[in-house]
Amino acid sequence: MKSFDVVVIGGGPGGYIAAIRAAQLGLSVACVDEAKGADGKPALGGTCTNVGCIPSKALLQSSEHYEHAGHHFADHGIQVKGLALDLAQMLKRKDKIIKGSNDGVLYLFKKNKVAFFHGRASFSKPLEIKVNDETLTAKHVIIATGSNPRSLPGVEFDEKLILSNDGALAIAEVPKRLGVIGAGVIGLEMGSVWRRLGSDVTILEALPAFLGAADEQIAKEAAKAFAKQGLKIELGVKIAKVEKNKTVIIQYSVSDGSSKILECDRLIVSIGRTANTTGLNAETVGLKLERGFVAVDGDCRTNLPGVWAIGDVVRGPMLAHKAEEEGVAVAERIAGQKPHVNFNTIPWVIYTTPEIAWVGKTEQQVKSGGVEYRVGSFPFSANARARALGDTTGMVKFIAHAKTDEILGVHIIGPMASELIAEAVVAMEFRGSAEDIGMICHAHPSLSEAMKEAALAVDRRSLNI
Ligand code: NAI
Repeated sequence: MKSFDVVVIGGGPGGYIAAIRAAQLGLSVACVDEAKGADGKPALGGTCTNVGCIPSKALLQSSEHYEHAGHHFADHGIQVKGLALDLAQMLKRKDKIIKGSNDGVLYLFKKNKVAFFHGRASFSKPLEIKVNDETLTAKHVIIATGSNPRSLPGVEFDEKLILSNDGALAIAEVPKRLGVIGAGVIGLEMGSVWRRLGSDVTILEALPAFLGAADEQIAKEAAKAFAKQGLKIELGVKIAKVEKNKTVIIQYSVSDGSSKILECDRLIVSIGRTANTTGLNAETVGLKLERGFVAVDGDCRTNLPGVWAIGDVVRGPMLAHKAEEEGVAVAERIAGQKPHVNFNTIPWVIYTTPEIAWVGKTEQQVKSGGVEYRVGSFPFSANARARALGDTTGMVKFIAHAKTDEILGVHIIGPMASELIAEAVVAMEFRGSAEDIGMICHAHPSLSEAMKEAALAVDRRSLNI
């Protein structure tokens, strides 16, 4: 039996960050994670590192280079002859990045003196964990076991023809026809990767509106941009049947009731994820679950004293950075501090081209909440750096309170939206106004000037349009 102040179950971005923060605060910490790499060694970093954020960004980057070399370099006066795709190398590079990140987490554990146990953890008592043949006792347990892809009823993932996010990152040959069910974050990102590499991609989405969680104006811009790229997206779809043989045949109906058929060589199912509590033995020790999630209060406390839960396995957006914030906050609470996670300033990013990023409220949310507001927007076509980059699609949109000018939401579609959104997050965290951003000096020429210009536009003071 080994005793710790804190045992963290799960070494994804929520769990490993919680473990490090707890160790920094002087607590004795263990982390348990079962994931294995192809070599059988620990693969720390969770879904994000192994089959999510990191590998998808690696492939998005590689496929974007390929598309640029094939279609855009000529505009810059660069002629490419004999352009060829080496998919095996592209996948190898992605795997190397994953391995580097896995080992990076192990290194951080050593550096911070976090004891690591490789295996599946299950509760024998609320503060007693079994892993392999060992028993760990703790004053506090943090559950950070993440999530699993949700399958369509009756259509199991085989990762050969019917792919989850896992298989979608490892297709050995570019499929001629790729079907995707669900036009959410994974569907759009992975659909983009394989379209750039040559697949004919069709995405089937159940909702009648495209990107329902995004600001409507931004979603419309995105739909236009994706259509122009040749990504086919059908909305209001109801899947009737999925059959697989050598290909996959999907029967579905659309909003006018008519039936359609899509035949494809591979099908990605990306219709959301479910909390992962598999093998935890949660029920036996009396851990309360709610709709499959571990039930927690606003501070991530479960119903069992000393047991906490964070990240995808609890309510809220399934985002690595949300899990990290909760992980830090729980470690600090255990150490007697009073941290706070601001759920209103969690940024969202979709790494397509154009990138889409937002923080705070959408215009439709502000409107339906009866708040008086003003909007300012600025197109990248009027931004000098975007023109020099040759990437002028999209805009920045600020939504501010009509009376106080406090920033209520910022929405970006365009180049480097994922990086630009950070300024808006900072401003909103400090409860800044649109005028605050408009008064700050932004480097010229830079994409960030579009942020300043959109903020100025709230007061109809844009300078370059
Ligand atoms: P999602 O929740 O983003 O999108 C799922 C989509 O599938 C929705 O648009 C939904 O309406 C649709 N859908 C659901 N059932 C359907 C059905 N039967 N037929 C057709 N469409 C259906 O989920 P996704 O893309 O699977 O991603 C899972 C999680 O991973 C998300 O919570 C996401 O936040 C996270 N993630 C985040 C990334 C990022 O931050 N860039 C990247 C990838 C994933």
